[in-house]
Amino acid sequence: MATDEKTQPVPGDKPRLIIFDTTLRDGEQSPGASLNLQEKLEIAHALEQLGVDVIEAGFPITSPGDFEAVRTIASEITGATVAALARCTDKDVRRAGEAVRYAARGRVHVFCATSKIHREFKLKKAKEEIIRLAVQNVKLAREYVSDVEFSPEDASRTEPDFLADIVQAAMEAGATTINCPDTVGYATPPEYLAMFKDLIARVPGAKDVVWSAHCHDDLGLAVANSLAAVLGGARQIECTINGIGERAGNAALEEIVMAIHTRQDRFPFATGIHTRRLVPCSRLVSMLTGLHVQRNKAIVGENAFAHEAGIHQDGVLKERRTYEIMSPEDVGLVRNTLVLGKHSGRHAFRQRLEELSLRLDEAALDRAFEKFKVLCDKKKEIYDEDLEALAEEQLATDNQLFQLKALQVMAGTQGVATAMVTLVDSTGAQITDAATGDGPVDAMFAAIQRLTRISARLDSYQVRSLTGGREAQGEAIVELTHSDRKVRGRGLSTDILEASAKAYLAAINRVRTIARRTVGQGTPLEE
Ligand code: KIV
Ligand code: ZN
Repeated sequence: MATDEKTQPVPGDKPRLIIFDTTLRDGEQSPGASLNLQEKLEIAHALEQLGVDVIEAGFPITSPGDFEAVRTIASEITGATVAALARCTDKDVRRAGEAVRYAARGRVHVFCATSKIHREFKLKKAKEEIIRLAVQNVKLAREYVSDVEFSPEDASRTEPDFLADIVQAAMEAGATTINCPDTVGYATPPEYLAMFKDLIARVPGAKDVVWSAHCHDDLGLAVANSLAAVLGGARQIECTINGIGERAGNAALEEIVMAIHTRQDRFPFATGIHTRRLVPCSRLVSMLTGLHVQRNKAIVGENAFAHEAGIHQDGVLKERRTYEIMSPEDVGLVRNTLVLGKHSGRHAFRQRLEELSLRLDEAALDRAFEKFKVLCDKKKEIYDEDLEALAEEQLATDNQLFQLKALQVMAGTQGVATAMVTLVDSTGAQITDAATGDGPVDAMFAAIQRLTRISARLDSYQVRSLTGGREAQGEAIVELTHSDRKVRGRGLSTDILEASAKAYLAAINRVRTIARRTVGQGTPLEE
């Protein structure tokens, strides 16, 4: 048994809350957060280790790449149920069913909009027709798996009578989980609580299904609403790591879990989450999606456990509980720890990567370890962030269509900046070109555009240092728009120009991956 498993509270007789993670589906719908197959697999494995009960792996009808990702995750993950999303159409449900039918535990999640505004303007369908479609498609999903979830989309804005009718019909058709989403983040906690209470009281057979909450954060109420739903009778919560998702995002998994963990007096429930894996998981998701976690974000933000005011510092030094309601260790925060050094062996290196939820195969581990030794010569102090950078480089190397081979930049206050870039393409060939620009970064990006023949609009470019000191690793994040799609790329190096070139290339590679993934996409996503 892993150390963190031993330290978790024993659930005892407490009722269990099902943690349904939708980072790979709703979370991936965050603008610019698209992930490739390898990255999705990394996250799925980290979620399995974290102890989530259900992983919603994607929306298979959206593209061949999404189908493949869900199918692969379903075949590799055995410690959690793997769910696939489908609209109430034959094609969607069959595709989702095919993707998860051979999973150790597979679920098809069928949804259909039910609120008046969605019925009239989006679906242009009457209530009876919507119920008919829900029933037909839940039954179809049951032909693939016995675990079927039904979601009346925009449930919180749906007329209570119609909501009860459609939910009852879906249950009778074979749905085993009923999820009532606050799709647009409009509900308030008392309303959302009352909706569950009312449904559970009035729908016959309500106790035979699992009731589920799914909240968006448009008014900043997603976590509060999810917890209110639990008080109203929900026993599954749908959430994402770091709260990423459509628009303002979804309810943050780490916040829900720690609220339950910390306020057992109000929420006497158990979850299967190993809370010490929360910070590593958060960092992995942030690293792979390129979506930064705000400094003051609850639980996993850089400042979540930092005490600035003298009076607070004094209090914490005297007795930690004066200003800390949770301990940083409980969420897996090991602050600025000098983790490894020149004399650390491969075994210790691998173990620390595993603790950080970073999985590398043997070949990638060897490459990362070699680079670690080189880094140890450059940098006296090696932190978790450095290890994450090394692992990410390997993950990226495995996936990139173009890789940076060499970079030569000339710049100064006089004359035109010039960059010469050499890339290795997917066939292994080396290609070199040079360009001028308004400064060294502009010149590098222009040279990469020429080499990859992909021209995208640069929306933002940021550089920051990941660790302290002169030898710190620099992190560059580039956001591009290509064919109306936002993509992000992240690059790390002790040299910020190299980090910038890597970030730009990572974004360009993502443009190429998305283009490949969506080739042959059949069904437009309008309903
Ligand atoms: O927000 C929502 O309504 C959804 C459904 C597909 C469950 O994401
Ligand atoms: Zn959603």
